[in-house]
Amino acid sequence: MNRKILITGGAGFIGSHVVRFFVKEYQNYEIYNLDALTYAGNLENLKDIEKRPNYKFIKADITNENEIRRLFQKYKFDGVIHLAAESHVDRSIKDPLAFARTNILGTLNLLNSFKELWFNDWTGKRFYHVSTDEVYGTLGNTGLFTEETSYSPNSPYSASKASSDHFVRSYGETYGLRYVISNCSNNYGPNHFPEKLIPLFINNIINNKSLPVYGNGNYTRDWLYVIDHAIAIDKVFHQGVNENTYNIGGFNEWKNIDLVNLLCSLMDEKLGRESGSSEKLVTFVKDRPGHDLRYAIDANKINKELGWKPSVTFEQGLSMTIDWYLQNSEWLERVTSGNYQNYYNNFYSIR
Ligand code: NAD
Ligand code: TYD
Repeated sequence: MNRKILITGGAGFIGSHVVRFFVKEYQNYEIYNLDALTYAGNLENLKDIEKRPNYKFIKADITNENEIRRLFQKYKFDGVIHLAAESHVDRSIKDPLAFARTNILGTLNLLNSFKELWFNDWTGKRFYHVSTDEVYGTLGNTGLFTEETSYSPNSPYSASKASSDHFVRSYGETYGLRYVISNCSNNYGPNHFPEKLIPLFINNIINNKSLPVYGNGNYTRDWLYVIDHAIAIDKVFHQGVNENTYNIGGFNEWKNIDLVNLLCSLMDEKLGRESGSSEKLVTFVKDRPGHDLRYAIDANKINKELGWKPSVTFEQGLSMTIDWYLQNSEWLERVTSGNYQNYYNNFYSIR
């Protein structure tokens, strides 16, 4: 079937892997990547597929109500996979309003434009909201987040994502929107912006800079390789049941400090440095306010109902990730210097 799928946030970390997956896998679909190209959006992530006939990039901001409405009226997207968001907890602590604008109002603009198009007949239409496990708040030392866990967000980031999840659900109840939501644990992999733990620390180790571990480092996250998330998103989009939520996770919990130590030893090996040299860069710094102790996902629903499970182990994924950063030092250099932001102007003025 020919479909017109809008993917928002496709120039970002996870979105670029989702766009690539859909463009390659579904050559009969038209894939539209809508992205505002904020600091986190980088079209270089999609260089390898940008000339494919079933791919189109649209530079637009989801907070711009009129522009979003115009684009939906023009292209008549029949499916939306919504990833565009402000995504970094530390930034949300500094500027919560930016998170409310993009994550809440931006999502509402997409919902309204989609509703205006299809309200009279939702058949075959689907709105997929890609969300986070952080909406559930924090776990103690035991237990897992299930789809039934109640929402209890602790950071402005997770509060804004929780709010947008609720709006999506409410459009299902109120207007009959056909939707699915997934709540995923921490991702890692190629093209991750070096402000998040793993890419930041890889970059710092390469440059012999200190590794700022928040608090005592005894915080736990459940890590998933980004391509496994993209595969899960494909499954949920195509096979998920309307009005359902799916938790996605790696069955892979790591205390930050243990993860950092593993990363350090892998980096020493790959850089040919003396064993223990990267670990000397670890510096314990002031904790993040409202820091969630532990996230861990029960991914049994998606496993049993949609047959999804992670395809790589953490050791494999982390090793591939480090190799990618070492082989793409130019990408890392351009991202840290800010030069990547010229890519759009250069590329699109040539066309
Ligand atoms: P990211 O910050 O790397 O990318 C976000 C993308 O959205 C960027 O390309 C940016 O330019 C774009 N964007 C931001 N504001 C926009 C706006 N107003 N209009 C249009 N585009 C805009 O984020 P990510 O890590 O790839 O996360 C993608 C989605 O997945 C987010 O919704 C996030 O909440 C969710 N998520 C992320 C993780 C994770 O570990 N990174 C885990 C679970 C869920
Ligand atoms: P992060 O990658 O920001 O993801 P999230 O906050 O969404 O889980 O952080 C992962 C964990 O690493 C989290 O417990 C905070 C911690 N952390 C540090 O200790 N130091 C850092 O410099 C960063 C960015 C994160």
